[in-house]
Amino acid sequence: MKKNILVTGGAGFIGSHLVETLLRENAWNVTVVDDLNDFYSPDIKRANLGLLRRSGDIQFFEADIRCSDSLQQVFDENRFDVIVHLAARAGVRPSLSEPKLYVETNINGTVNLLELARKYDVKQFVFGSSSSVYGENEKVPFAEDDPIFKPISPYAATKAAGELICHTYSHLFDIRTVCLRFFTVYGARQRPDLAIHKFSKLIYFGQPIQVFGDGSTRRDYTYIDDIIQGVRASIDYDGSMHEVFNLGESETTELGRLIELLEASLGKKAIIERLPPQPGDVPITFADISKARRLLNYSPTTKIEQGIPKFVEWFKTAQPAVSI
Ligand SMILES: NC(=O)c1ccc[n+]([C@@H]2O[C@H](COP(=O)([O-])OP(=O)(O)OC[C@H]3O[C@@H](n4cnc5c(N)ncnc54)[C@H](O)[C@@H]3O)[C@@H](O)[C@H]2O)c1
Repeated sequence: MKKNILVTGGAGFIGSHLVETLLRENAWNVTVVDDLNDFYSPDIKRANLGLLRRSGDIQFFEADIRCSDSLQQVFDENRFDVIVHLAARAGVRPSLSEPKLYVETNINGTVNLLELARKYDVKQFVFGSSSSVYGENEKVPFAEDDPIFKPISPYAATKAAGELICHTYSHLFDIRTVCLRFFTVYGARQRPDLAIHKFSKLIYFGQPIQVFGDGSTRRDYTYIDDIIQGVRASIDYDGSMHEVFNLGESETTELGRLIELLEASLGKKAIIERLPPQPGDVPITFADISKARRLLNYSPTTKIEQGIPKFVEWFKTAQPAVSI
């Protein structure tokens, strides 16, 4: 018998890849909740939903996780075995100008879902957290038990709070909560606000790219198929009642090197406009993934040198329809 799963944010980048994977397994009744907001073009999210509908049956609710009443309707009509909660206001920089929106969506929205999980006896809750919770952690690579009490953006603070409230619900209400700290995810359908996608578009169209700082910031860039492998494993995770995992490639790449890789794949030279470092941006992210390897059998395989050409291949076919 098929199991029932709710994927919040399923019309987005990571969510739509997860739903595709679940549909391929043919073992799930998949429900998607997404409010199709305009953080980036809702047309992209609708296109993602269209792609999912062509891959299999999904039940879609256009609902806002900030509103318990509209979520109630979803739970009135379904009994879920698992919730994968990916809906969020994502992005570090916009959170500096709209902190309340981030708190309402990422914290209140998460509590709304946890409350419904409690009420309807959902046993497994997977929460999409972020590497940003580590703030300016000086110890690299970042490990799950490093302190996360100094987030440097509202976005990071909301993700840290989300993890904490997950712990509380698992402690009090017997819901297994698995918090996944994603490290900069990229691949087909990547959010257009993220550097790899944004830079690709600008380089492709011969426009300048804005580089904040001297290009020496480093990121652990994670290919989407690897992230999905980790998310998928966390759905089946049956260990302790609350767990936190880093999901990254465990390799860190300088921004300057990333731009070189994009130039090589796009076959065009970037025009670089240098600007001062941005508040809220961390200097480095670098995942220690030994815990995920051990407990989730997580085994990422796509190095940035292979992943960027794959991304660019998608990007070129998606132009200009998707990357608006
Ligand atoms: N992409 C990354 O590199 C990255 C890194 C770390 C963490 N994350 C986290 O992973 C998750 C997915 O990220 P993504 O890159 O796919 O982003 P995304 O913006 O493409 O997907 C998020 C989806 O959530 C939906 N959503 C937002 N607010 C909502 C609300 N109030 N009600 C219902 N739906 C709402 C959006 O419409 C969107 O489709 C997010 O929680 C994000 O914070 C992503």
